[in-house]
Amino acid sequence: MSSRAEPRGASTLPPVVSIRRLVAAIEDAPRLSLPRRVGRRLRPIGLDVPLGRLYDTAPSRSELARMREYRHAVGLWRHLRAGGYTMIDSRRARALSRLARACEEEGVAGALLDCGCFNGGSTVMMAAGAPSRDVWAFDSFEGLPAPGPNDPERAHDWTGRLVASEEKVREAFRRFAPSTPLHVVKGWFRDSFPVALPQIDTVGLLHVDGDWYESVKLTLETFEPRVQAGGFVVIDDYGAWEGARAATDEYRSAQSITTPLVEIDRTATYWRKPVAA
Ligand SMILES: C[S@@+](CC[C@H](N)C(=O)[O-])C[C@H]1O[C@@H](n2cnc3c(N)ncnc32)[C@H](O)[C@@H]1O
Repeated sequence: MSSRAEPRGASTLPPVVSIRRLVAAIEDAPRLSLPRRVGRRLRPIGLDVPLGRLYDTAPSRSELARMREYRHAVGLWRHLRAGGYTMIDSRRARALSRLARACEEEGVAGALLDCGCFNGGSTVMMAAGAPSRDVWAFDSFEGLPAPGPNDPERAHDWTGRLVASEEKVREAFRRFAPSTPLHVVKGWFRDSFPVALPQIDTVGLLHVDGDWYESVKLTLETFEPRVQAGGFVVIDDYGAWEGARAATDEYRSAQSITTPLVEIDRTATYWRKPVAA
């Protein structure tokens, strides 16, 4: 809350956004993407949320060329969100379908892995892009674990929250992706990954959505080496949780991965494994 006192009789109308100040703010923060810079500027006058929602559902440039798929993905996400199957926003959900479809259309082999599936909404979105592929959904179904020293203080408020249900994941697939070969693996990643790993030769799309440093690190260390050339790694919380970002940056640096990160929205990002020349 601002400590500056309002002058007596000051107008209660929101301040007018000056185009000059908007442009200056955009130029002042060159490392942020354009939507994020604009969002920052609109926050003080309360327009960031409604415009953010509009931005979230508006088609991205690549979706403009494929409006039928875009409409289908928006509709599917709406059902999943309304049914409590997912907490991710539309743009991120659609990106999962789009990247899975790219694997399908471009002949990139491998399963679709959702590490931190919650009630299965993100998993269904992945399956929607590549319906015949094996899909793996990992979750404790006991909520988030305690964060560690590499996560921010505010992460502690979330321990044990977001409790999901394995039955709800299966229900989501019965309703929205009935013919997908689905493997649900319940348990903490440190226990469930070693059990599943021998059954997963190759990965086309890896969705890393465990929020905390240790969960993200373990997911990358276990499965990223199996992502095929041309396949994708999506980090859901790169822009939201410092631990997720640190684990990703450290992993990429240790593996000398220089492929650029592509921003999906203000929290999620992905990279594509290069195809050898
Ligand atoms: C933000 S939610 C995932 C959201 C989901 N992808 C969606 O579509 O809404 C994060 C999930 O990761 C799970 N999770 C995080 N760390 C984990 C770990 N180490 N082992 C098992 N599950 C974990 C939590 O139980 C939680 O359901």
